Amino acid sequence: MENPLRYETFKSENPTISSTYSKNAEELVESMSWEEGDIIMDYGCGSGQFMTEYLFPKIPNPRCICGVDISPNMIRFAYENCKNKENIYFAIGDIMDKYQWTFKEKMVSKFVAYLVLCYVQDYRGFISKVYDFLKPGGQVGMLVPFSKAYGIPHQLLSQEKWAQYAEKKELTNHSSFAPWTYAEDIDAPSSIKDSLLSCGFRIDRFTVNDIKLEFPSIRNLCEFLCTITSALSTVPEKFHDDFMEEMIDYVTSNLGSSRGVTTHPGDNNSSVISVEWKFLNFVATKP
Ligand SMILES: C[S@@+](CC[C@H](N)C(=O)[O-])C[C@H]1O[C@@H](n2cnc3c(N)ncnc32)[C@H](O)[C@@H]1O
Repeated sequence: MENPLRYETFKSENPTISSTYSKNAEELVESMSWEEGDIIMDYGCGSGQFMTEYLFPKIPNPRCICGVDISPNMIRFAYENCKNKENIYFAIGDIMDKYQWTFKEKMVSKFVAYLVLCYVQDYRGFISKVYDFLKPGGQVGMLVPFSKAYGIPHQLLSQEKWAQYAEKKELTNHSSFAPWTYAEDIDAPSSIKDSLLSCGFRIDRFTVNDIKLEFPSIRNLCEFLCTITSALSTVPEKFHDDFMEEMIDYVTSNLGSSRGVTTHPGDNNSSVISVEWKFLNFVATKP
């Protein structure tokens, strides 16, 4: 994910995405208990919207809120947005790089990762790392999305024509959705719950909601999928249009089947593309 403006535009222009985003953000922030002097880490902070619009106004006098993201573009954008806010800091960092976390172990009192765990292949390892970084009594809150549609860019990139580029670029963890977010045979929410419990977390809130996000066209859905992954950047720029057209063909010929994408009539003879998503919203405390 390298283009903060495109991501923000999708979030604000698509009513189903923006309402799902804000409803879950409000619920997550409300379900966590905030204290003066909190040291808060927002991992995968992206453009900083969750932090500035939902966290910052709710928290009483935090010692600091630190936004970390793997993408320098995202961090630049977030920094510009938050220039005049006190106690907000940003750093570039990879959630999966065990040796380069910005804080020392047992220092963080609140850890949030909003729409980020879906990029982490080893979510068990990650949850255990979060446990180590939290101080006793600290809390973690996350929103984790799942959708069979996340498998669409991967399906295309696994075809011979595109696989050559994906292999050369070596798709890294942060650039793609972890397969457990779209696999049909894995009950990932239950497995996340087991990981939290086996690390020693006490679960304060754990809700899974089925939501249909709507898109004005298959093209718009494909553009969204390419905005929230780096799938397109694995392909040379001169083939981007080609790749997009093939993705649209793939979705069109798989409507109503295993990818959870359907179409129904909208206003003025148009049709609406409806896509199944699942959102896990959880809060857990380190005793
Ligand atoms: C869907 S966006 C969510 C951004 C933000 N939390 C929000 O609510 O808008 C996911 C973010 O996670 C970041 N990300 C993905 N993998 C990461 C990793 N391994 N380490 C740190 N950040 C990562 C991406 O760069 C992107 O900004």
